[in-house]
Amino acid sequence: MRQKTLVLLKPDAVNRRLVGEIISRFERKGLKIVAMKMLWLTRDRAEKHYEVHRGKPFYESLIDYITSAPIIAMVLEGERAIEVVRRMMGKTNGVEAEPGTIRGDFAMSIQNNLVHGSDSEESAAREIPIFFSDEEILEYRLVDEIWI
Ligand code: RTP
Ligand code: MG
Repeated sequence: MRQKTLVLLKPDAVNRRLVGEIISRFERKGLKIVAMKMLWLTRDRAEKHYEVHRGKPFYESLIDYITSAPIIAMVLEGERAIEVVRRMMGKTNGVEAEPGTIRGDFAMSIQNNLVHGSDSEESAAREIPIFFSDEEILEYRLVDEIWI
């Protein structure tokens, strides 16, 4: 089942110069980048993206954090891409995340955890249009696809 998922490299990933490292992991795994941009989230858009967390104790702090500096947004595609990306990210809290995962290798915080990935098909379908129009999501073949 081929899926698309929304991935965000959060402000700490940009500020800690981990953008290349993190994208590189997704590329080497065999996921395909079908859309990508750098942007500075407005509060409005951040609140839309994280609307499921509205009212939680960490919500205000989360919105402050995600709007504090530029981020990278991308859509990754591949076989069961949603769960693959979630496993590569590791647990939400960097302190608990397994070594070998992005958060396990580079994060020590529950909030500043470098990366976002859609957690279900429904979330991906809701989140992707917050960041990308249909025309910005590209359909193309990679020459090595038969090997992946
Ligand atoms: P994400 O949505 O960003 O992919 O992360 P996630 O599914 O692993 O975690 P989620 O529960 O959806 O929380 C969204 C983001 O909010 C921040 N957070 N802070 N201080 C706290 O207790 C707390 N809990 C969550 C994190 O940045 C988390 O990724
Ligand atoms: Mg989440």
